[in-house]
Amino acid sequence: MQVWKDYIEQHKDRFLNELLDLLRIPSVSADSKYKEDVAKCAEAVKEHLLLAGCDIAEVCPTAGHPIVYGEKITDPSLPTVLVYGHYDVQPADPLELWTSGPFEPEIRDGKIYARGACDDKGQMFMHIKALEVMAKTGTLACNIKVMIEGEEEVGSSNLEQFLKDNKDRLKADVVLVSDTSMISMEHPSIETGLRGLAYMEVEVTGPNRDLHSGVYGGGVLNPINELCRMIASLHDENRHITVAGFYDKVAELSAAERQAINEAPFSQEDFNKDLGITQEAGEKGYTTLERTGIRPTLDVNGIWGGYTGEGAKTVLPSKAFAKISMRLVPNQVSTEISDLFAKHFTNIAAPGVQVKVTSHHGGEPVVTPTDSKAYQAAARAIETTFGKEPIPTRGGGSIPIIALFESILGLKTVLLGFGLDNDNIHSPNEKYDVFNYFKGIETIPYFHKYFAE
Ligand code: BES
Ligand code: MN
Ligand code: MN
Repeated sequence: MQVWKDYIEQHKDRFLNELLDLLRIPSVSADSKYKEDVAKCAEAVKEHLLLAGCDIAEVCPTAGHPIVYGEKITDPSLPTVLVYGHYDVQPADPLELWTSGPFEPEIRDGKIYARGACDDKGQMFMHIKALEVMAKTGTLACNIKVMIEGEEEVGSSNLEQFLKDNKDRLKADVVLVSDTSMISMEHPSIETGLRGLAYMEVEVTGPNRDLHSGVYGGGVLNPINELCRMIASLHDENRHITVAGFYDKVAELSAAERQAINEAPFSQEDFNKDLGITQEAGEKGYTTLERTGIRPTLDVNGIWGGYTGEGAKTVLPSKAFAKISMRLVPNQVSTEISDLFAKHFTNIAAPGVQVKVTSHHGGEPVVTPTDSKAYQAAARAIETTFGKEPIPTRGGGSIPIIALFESILGLKTVLLGFGLDNDNIHSPNEKYDVFNYFKGIETIPYFHKYFAE
């Protein structure tokens, strides 16, 4: 629509500068040092909602970081879209690997470099700007409710209660989220699934204190040696996961569904080159797209213990630790998988060490329908602005709250993401293409228009 194009063109510089300002706020939810910055970011988001044309916008306190809520109700008889996103970001470390400061956004080669540029400030803000475009040009086709949280990166632990407490207020016809990726700008795609998550921490204890590794070594189990042995045993030679019962509920896809997944454009060579690896690897019998989309995984995220400082210290440590996460697929249940893991990990411990297993956050996998009105509206919107029909793909990441939208609010979600897999989310030099940012702002109004039709 020409009025949208014109409005975006006229306000292009401001739309970009406003995002850069938002990226300057270090809203790291995991680190209490940034609590005030997180709060400041919530205020900024609220102000932007009001400026964009919301009738009401407020910062809702929670037991953790606040949730920002706003709405623009044009006519109660119109369909209502609930937009979800998050304004919190991952920690920026290791800082020395960034070319420019993580909270000093810089545009290089048409890309915005900053923590949160893609995940999710850049993508979330597209919705606020799209709302402005529609509100200021008098073209709102749907009622819009916007819920932007500040705890996605730490497990959304207070959002569940917020959904339960605000069921009425959050009544809508669909949830629209931009917090996922596309294959490429040449091959637009829509993620139709997310994996679930079970995140564990393990502690292995040997002797009651750190020991001289010469005086005692050989006579006592070393908890780091033991932890490594246990972790190594969690995959077999085919890289199947050995946790007893782990695959019991895994939904196996039909040959036709698997074929469809593998028809998506994907170059193994480019994938390897981008990551600097000489050979891909993973669960036997599956392709890379299947391994990262429809198969469950188990990965060590961190492992520590003993002496890691400068030089050498001969020590036989008392304790060893690891953080281990599992990505889940339909119909695995995160609490069940956590229990299976805890049982299994305790069982494989040698007599002579003690094992403690604790569970961090979890989340359930989701599959979103492609035959719904909402998906069709999203596909049409992309076709309109990209000139190509989007390819449905199964994403490997997790957004735990999406499953709760369905179970608590009874709402299905459309994952209309504009990121790219190599946007370095959670990594140094996170980026988001200026082109993708404006493409998103241009596409979102079409979703509202088509969804209302
Ligand atoms: N936006 C991501 C999830 C994502 C990224 C989905 C790319 C699909 C494609 C989200 O912010 C995220 O990082 N989620 C975490 C889980 C959360 C509980 C910390 C994840 O996937 O590790
Ligand atoms: Mn995200
Ligand atoms: Mn994230």
